[in-house]
Amino acid sequence: MPRIRLQSTIAFIAVCCAALATSASSREHPVCQAHPSRSGYAAAPNQHPACPKYRANAEPFGDARPLPAERTFVSPAVDNAIQAITAKMKDQSLAAVFANTLPNTLDTTVSLFQQYPTLSSYIITGDINAMWLRDSTYQVLPYLRYMQQDANLRNLIHGAINRQVQYVLSDVYGSSFNRDALSGTGVFDGDSTWRSSFLGTSYNAMLNKIVYERKYSVDSLSAVMKLSYGFYNATRSLDAFDSNWVAAMALIIDTLQIQTQDTAQEDKNGGPQYTFQRLTVEPKDSLIHGRGYPCSYTGMIKGFFRASDDAQIYCFSIPANAMAVVELRHTAEILTALGQSALATQALTLAASVDQAIYAHGVVQHRTAGQIFAYEVDGFGNYIFMDDAPAPSLLSLPYVGYVNASDPLYLRTRAAVLSNANPWYFSGAATDGVGGAHYGTGWIWQLSIAVRAFTSTSDTEILKCLKDLVDSTVGTGFMHEAFYLDDYGYYSRPWVAWGNSFFGDLILYLSDTRPYLIYT
Ligand SMILES: *[C@@H]1O[C@H](CO)[C@@H](O)[C@H](O)[C@H]1NC(C)=O
Ligand SMILES: *[C@@H]1O[C@H](CO)[C@@H](O)[C@H](O)[C@H]1NC(C)=O
Repeated sequence: MPRIRLQSTIAFIAVCCAALATSASSREHPVCQAHPSRSGYAAAPNQHPACPKYRANAEPFGDARPLPAERTFVSPAVDNAIQAITAKMKDQSLAAVFANTLPNTLDTTVSLFQQYPTLSSYIITGDINAMWLRDSTYQVLPYLRYMQQDANLRNLIHGAINRQVQYVLSDVYGSSFNRDALSGTGVFDGDSTWRSSFLGTSYNAMLNKIVYERKYSVDSLSAVMKLSYGFYNATRSLDAFDSNWVAAMALIIDTLQIQTQDTAQEDKNGGPQYTFQRLTVEPKDSLIHGRGYPCSYTGMIKGFFRASDDAQIYCFSIPANAMAVVELRHTAEILTALGQSALATQALTLAASVDQAIYAHGVVQHRTAGQIFAYEVDGFGNYIFMDDAPAPSLLSLPYVGYVNASDPLYLRTRAAVLSNANPWYFSGAATDGVGGAHYGTGWIWQLSIAVRAFTSTSDTEILKCLKDLVDSTVGTGFMHEAFYLDDYGYYSRPWVAWGNSFFGDLILYLSDTRPYLIYT
């Protein structure tokens, strides 16, 4: 998920000042208050359109949801669940953060919910006005369990699946999308530099104006499969899986298959199907020669961007391929139920060869950590060990559903991720955690802390993660994606719905699996 660029900020200032001018309150919610010593959002977060939406008089660790009339979607089932769960919680700060974060996607990001002629939901990320395939899946994931009690909520999620299908069919390499195809040529919205800087063959994507950004990643396509399976698993109904859905899955499976080709095979077969270059000062936002470093066949699927939307170093991401294995198998289950047995077999065959390749090429002997999963490999025998904060990450492999949390290979990998063997692991006086190239050294992501809790088998560690997550909201009641080591008040984003949903989902997970941790 990219950091907001200056252009967007300028656009936001215009929006916010108009809104603030109409606000009568003299007290602002902490999310809108300045941090004394820093720059960026933390210094001037009230230049952000999220701020006027929040209650001007909310107390720290209080109810900071938008007023009911301003919520973009209301689910009685979710609101009832919040009431029932928080009533049992003893820690009032934890309860407040849960009550604010769980509904944040519904409260603030449902930009469109169309019921006719087809269900279609456009769900923005929060402070970036576009729908990411990846984010939108995680944003609605915690609500799946409430669909059976709330038909409208079920329709909303069905509509999100329909949107994802529409987007995949319009450009399978797109990572985030506009609500409507933009009109005109050469004239784009406030995020023009994201779009107009495509070079080379990807230039053509610029003409497909439904695409907001075209950072192909294996985990984005896996996220589409994940949401569909979550819907199926929760409802055991096939009514969201029409012929468009089957066509989108066929395209995803074909594309992932095509991307198992190595660099030499691509050249022999007429060149790469996907390239990406951008004019930028940041190497993490572009690929050398539009293709990245060469790679040699493994059986895994090539990808070019991580879940943070940063460029990969080597093309075979172990966490992204692990997620693909899990979700291809899930998709095969739905395809089988639909009678699409040939496609189901194709998905299962690909999953099996990727799974085998992960163990053949993605397990390495690390100098200090022993035998562990690598983060990325190139198939020539080179690997990089690190972790990137958002799921899918090495830390998240049990959450992804690929390994058992007590698997010794995973446990060695996990210990290495949470140590100085990982270049993006940071440890300070107040806390420790994993960041990544996206924000650079010293920045810890809340998503990674939540993943750590999701995958932990230790009550003590889970409680430490909950404390870190609540403390790092600095009283705003919301997640902020990343904060600077030991300075929770210096954070990267004021309004990030993925982080909010993920925290809400973590509490729901703990409520099921370790209720004594949150209710006593
Ligand atoms: C499927 O649903 C069951 C029961 O609600 C749940 O325990 C399980 O985690 C779900 N699996 C997936 C992959 O979503
Ligand atoms: C994980 O492994 C443990 C020990 O072998 C086993 O008891 C447990 O059922 C496994 N869990 C899963 C989800 O497979």
